[in-house]
Parts: sequence; structure tokens; C-alpha cells
Amino acid sequence: MPSGEKIPFKRRRKKRHPKKTEEKADLKRVKDKLEHKVQERTAELALTIQALQNEIEDHRQTEVALRQSREQLRDLSRKILDAQENERRLVAQEIHDSIGGSLAAIKFALEEKLDSMGKNPLPEVISLEKIISQVDETIKESRRISANLRPSLLDDLGLIATITWFCREFEKVYPDIQIDQQITVAEDEIPEMLKVVVYRVLQEALNNAAKHSEATRIRLKFGRHGNRIELSVADDGIGFDPEEKLTESKVVSGFGLPSMRDRTFLCEGRFEIISGKGKGTTVRISLPCDADSIGASR
Ligand SMILES: Nc1ncnc2c1ncn2[C@@H]1O[C@H](COP(=O)(O)OP(=O)(O)OP(=O)(O)O)[C@@H](O)[C@H]1O
Ligand SMILES: [Mg+2]
Repeated sequence: MPSGEKIPFKRRRKKRHPKKTEEKADLKRVKDKLEHKVQERTAELALTIQALQNEIEDHRQTEVALRQSREQLRDLSRKILDAQENERRLVAQEIHDSIGGSLAAIKFALEEKLDSMGKNPLPEVISLEKIISQVDETIKESRRISANLRPSLLDDLGLIATITWFCREFEKVYPDIQIDQQITVAEDEIPEMLKVVVYRVLQEALNNAAKHSEATRIRLKFGRHGNRIELSVADDGIGFDPEEKLTESKVVSGFGLPSMRDRTFLCEGRFEIISGKGKGTTVRISLPCDADSIGASR
């Protein structure tokens, strides 16, 4: 062959290998199958996601309903407490004005009678003097009952004057217990709607200390810290297990502790009892002053 002459290029047809073709077909089948499976799984997943979303929505709706009914319950409790407080105010007023007024009139009439009898040491005079002193005692008792139901001082002079009065009366009734008062808040710094709550908690905490603690000293602290009103009543008595008492049925235990706790919670406040056998007892509440967060008159 002369040099430079091109060698004719003979295109050789690639021969299809039957084995390779089969492999390819197998691969395609597997791929199709996989794709099908992926589609199936994707559809299943979409259904599961939809079911989950439905469940989440159900939960959300239940939560909303629960929140609403909790709010309604709270509202109702506030209304019941308001009604109870109004009822107490009315009964206290009735006792004071009607029974107290009649007793005062009887006493006055008896004293008049006694005066008109002169100073004769007749047996009638002596028995009249006795009756007058009994009437006097009954007047005091009716005043005490009326004030315990709802001290008019609270509405007339405010919470601080009422606390001071209550402590003074308490020390008269329980001369073995001394109360140290540390009041660092001014009357106009206490939101109106919190006054009854603080007074009722203080009343119950002091009554509990007198009834159960065998304490000789009670430290009362009442102040405002930032946007919160705080009250603590600490006795140096025998103490108790608050968890046990708060979980016991009210019939076995009493109404005082749950009532203090519920009143506090209704004002979005915090309630705490620190106590232990032989360690004294401290009742502490902390109430937000922000009226919006309270949302009602209590
Ligand atoms: N300061 C305290 N010291 C010792 N024990 C206390 C004190 N406060 C409460 N307790 C105990 O907790 C119990 C429950 O108190 P709670 O005020 O709920 O009921 P109560 O005082 O017995 O009855 P009620 O308040 O309904 O008249 C009391 O019976 C007492 O055993
Ligand atoms: Mg009690």
C-alpha cells in the first residue's frame, strides 16, 4: 500500500450483548418498582401527615375549649366570692344596725330606769346593774360577730387600718401571742380589688396560728415589691405538713388552707406555705398589681 493512502475505516457495528440487555431490563424493572414503592410511601406519608395535622387541630380546639371553660370557672368562682362578700357585708350591717341598735336602746332604757330609782341599795337596783352589764357584753359580742363577718373599717378606712385593728383585737383575745407588724406599703399603693383577698388570707392565717400552732410570736410582713403586693404571716409554733393537709379532703382537714390558696389563684397570685413539724409555719402570698391580669373585681 502506497504511503499516505488512507486505510478505509470500516464502521463496525457494535454487537448487542444479550446479557447486558437483560441486565438493563432488570434494572429498569427494579427502578420502576422502587419508584412505585416511593410513590406509595409518599402517598401513605401524606395521609399520615394529614391525620397528624387533624389530630393537632383537634388538640388545639380541645385546648381552646379547656382554656375557655377554665376561664368561665374562674369567672364563676370570682362571682361566688363577690356574692359571698356582699352577703357578709349585708349580714354584718344588719347585725350591727338592727340587733346592735336594739340592744343599745334596751341598755339606755335600763340605765334610765336605774337613774330614776335613785341610789337605793334595793335588790332590784343590783339585779338591774347586772342586766345592764350583760346587755353591754351582748352588744360587744354582736359587734365582734359583725366585724368578723366583714369589718366596715375595710370599706371606710381601708386595708392598713383594718389590719392594725384586727391585730389589736387578736392580741386582746390571745394575750399569749405577740404580733410584730412590718407594713411597708401605703394604702393608695394597694389595688382596691386585692384588699379583701389580703384581709381574708391574713384573717385565716392568724386564726390558724391561734387555733393550731401554739405559737407565742407571729411576724407579719406586708409590702409592695415592684409590681406585686406581698403578705407573709410567720408563726413560731409547732408546724405541720402542708402537702398532707392540702390534699386531704376538706371534711377531714378544713376549709381555711384551700380557701386561701383559691382566693390567691383567682387573682393570678402565688400562694406558699412553708412549714414542718417543729419548724413553725409561714403563709406567703404574692399578688400582681396589674389589674388587667386580674380581669375582675377580685
Ligand atoms: N399555723 C399552723 N400551725 C400548725 N398547724 C396548722 C397551721 N395552719 C394550719 N394547720 C393545720 O392544717 C389543718 C388545716 O387547716 P385549715 O385552715 O384548712 O382547717 P381548720 O383551721 O382546721 O378548719 P377551718 O379553717 O375550716 O375552720 C389544721 O387543722 C391544722 O392541723
Ligand atoms: Mg383554718
